[in-house]
Amino acid sequence: MKENYSLVTGASSGIGLEIAKYLASKKHNLILTARNEQKLKDISLELINNFKIKCDYISCDLSKIESPKEIYDSCNSKNYNINVLVNNAGFALPNSFEKTTMEDEERFLRVLSTSVISLTKIFINDMILNKEGKIMIVSSVAAYAPPSKIQVLYGPVKTFMNRFSEALNLSYNNIGITCTALCPGYTVTNFHTASGVQDEMDRVPKFLKKSAKRIAIEGVDGMLKGKKIVVPTKTWKVIVFLLKIVPKSVFDFLSSIMAPGRYDD
Ligand SMILES: NC(=O)c1ccc[n+]([C@@H]2O[C@H](COP(=O)([O-])OP(=O)(O)OC[C@H]3O[C@@H](n4cnc5c(N)ncnc54)[C@H](OP(=O)(O)O)[C@@H]3O)[C@@H](O)[C@H]2O)c1
Repeated sequence: MKENYSLVTGASSGIGLEIAKYLASKKHNLILTARNEQKLKDISLELINNFKIKCDYISCDLSKIESPKEIYDSCNSKNYNINVLVNNAGFALPNSFEKTTMEDEERFLRVLSTSVISLTKIFINDMILNKEGKIMIVSSVAAYAPPSKIQVLYGPVKTFMNRFSEALNLSYNNIGITCTALCPGYTVTNFHTASGVQDEMDRVPKFLKKSAKRIAIEGVDGMLKGKKIVVPTKTWKVIVFLLKIVPKSVFDFLSSIMAPGRYDD
């Protein structure tokens, strides 16, 4: 008999790490994935010691086409049943579109979208057999925001992921599988440094920046309740509401004051 595990991608840092910790506090056994093997090893030991759960890790690069299958095969060979799948790994490209190579864009698209689709496709068959499964896709408020001059594909990819999540809910809610699109705003993690845009993050007003722990708690609670969309924190709920009703030109103006260069003039 297979034992239930929650799989978290991008669990070595930021939102993914806090999601892993919060799931561990709720006694979920865990599989952690990211590229940095030493970090995964240290984190899994810490979670085993602190929360008395089972925790394993798989080091892999999700920009590689074979990684999702390698993750699935590894879980299968160890008799792990993945009943919770958290697609969180991500980064952004710092340069304007004409300066990135097609290889950069493909690597980006693979980590933020095709690997998410691939992992979901490969694990959903067992969820269908078991008639239960919780999937989370860590999306972003960028899915609702005006276009950006830098990271031109970041918002579109997150919108794509939200629509993918909606389609999963339409297809599988009736057999006990739910998908939650978690849409955080600015979150204090390694994301902006890793993506070469820390200067811009530093210029964002403090009240808009939330802790990864808070995002993780609201996201996991929403996922476990089967919520379709979670926009964490009241601040960002109000902003997403306004993004849906206020004319784009007003948002472009406000955004240019708060985070110069982030949005169109
Ligand atoms: N921070 C924000 O303001 C913010 C806002 C909205 C949405 N988000 C979303 O939140 C998610 C998590 O980001 P974060 O803010 O927590 O950033 P983070 O602290 O930089 O964490 C990113 C995680 O993804 C992993 N990762 C990056 N590239 C990878 C690759 N090629 N293969 C496998 N794993 C990879 C990293 O681990 P390794 O480097 O060890 O591989 C790390 O564990 C992302 O999807 C991001 O788009 C972030």
